[in-house]
Amino acid sequence: MPRFPSRRALVRGIARAAAALALVLAALLVVVQLRWQRTFDVPLPALHARTDSATIARGRYLAYGPAHCASCHVAPSDRARLRAGGQPPLVGGTEFRPPVGRWYAANLTPDSATGIGRWSDGQIARVLRGGVRHDGRVLFPAMEYQELADDDIVALLSFLRAQPPVRHAVPPRRVNVIGRAMLAFGFAPRSPAAPPPRTAPRGSDAAAGAYLANVVAGCDGCHTKRDLRTGKYVGPPYGGGTVFRERDAQGRPIVSPRLAPGTGPMATWTEAQFVARIRAGRAHPHSPMEWEAFQKMPEEDLRAIYRYLRSL
Ligand code: HEC
Ligand code: HEC
Repeated sequence: MPRFPSRRALVRGIARAAAALALVLAALLVVVQLRWQRTFDVPLPALHARTDSATIARGRYLAYGPAHCASCHVAPSDRARLRAGGQPPLVGGTEFRPPVGRWYAANLTPDSATGIGRWSDGQIARVLRGGVRHDGRVLFPAMEYQELADDDIVALLSFLRAQPPVRHAVPPRRVNVIGRAMLAFGFAPRSPAAPPPRTAPRGSDAAAGAYLANVVAGCDGCHTKRDLRTGKYVGPPYGGGTVFRERDAQGRPIVSPRLAPGTGPMATWTEAQFVARIRAGRAHPHSPMEWEAFQKMPEEDLRAIYRYLRSL
């Protein structure tokens, strides 16, 4: 006759297994707790702020224009003012709520207690280029500026330093246990995909357009289909088709159009029509595209983007 374990032995076995599992989980939690705030050893770029007005003006143009730092770094209460064409201060506070926690865009004014006042130029430059925060911890993946040219990073630094400081505390990030596990084991800082240029390409040719569209403005990030969880590109370049949470007037999800030639608006638009369309600005009140930041770009820059898109 087969021997079955007695009921008591069975209960004891299950209890032992559960205790072992709890121990493993507890150990894992301890490791996550020790590792989620880990820092990365990313070198500080040797880039420094300047004080001449032309450099500062270029930085302001990038921040409120094509690089659209303002769209995340103005106070939420100032969004309407920004949309109306104003330039409210970059005091931070916009909340990001992925399922794993809450992140807040930083105060970028030179206030020493709540802003960038005590960080070195290298620390700020490294946020943009190296994908880590001033303290070396991994940055929430909202900023894809790793390939910005040296002179554009210098321009941004120079402008940020030249602003009046505003004391405005932004809440620290709050990360739940799954987010901590991801930070402990998953995320690595972004680094430049190719060595960044020393000076930004300028002019109205396709090379300048590629830099503006892919590096400064991030048009590719929305107009190329990507896996919204991992951020990996899964569609052809500028093939469109990203479905956003935001809805249009009919309640349908807003989808980014294809901007490569072939089908979609770029199949028929002339250069002048493209420039006029960007200039005309927002058509959908809830579109995630920062029309207000892009619509005032100089004609030369818009022509460059058109030529780049047509060259795809
Ligand atoms: C899509 C939204 C978004 C845009 C656009 C954006 N940022 Fe940020 N930024 C954030 C968020 C969110 C954080 C907080 C990240 C964190 O704590 O991990 C942040 C943090 C920062 C920090 C501080 C990092 C630290 O050390 O704590 C700096 C500096 C910064 N951004 C600069 C910029 C500049 C300059 C631009 C434009 C070139 C820009 N950001 C554009 C969302 C954005
Ligand atoms: C945050 C995501 C996002 C970014 C960044 C973005 N777009 Fe868009 N874009 C969209 C979405 C969504 C639509 C469709 C809704 C709309 O028209 O606003 C769109 C629409 C367009 C259209 C078609 C408008 C029409 O009338 O058919 C053009 C042209 C365009 N974008 C060009 C650009 C260019 C150029 C850039 C970079 C300078 C850019 N977009 C950056 C999301 C984005």
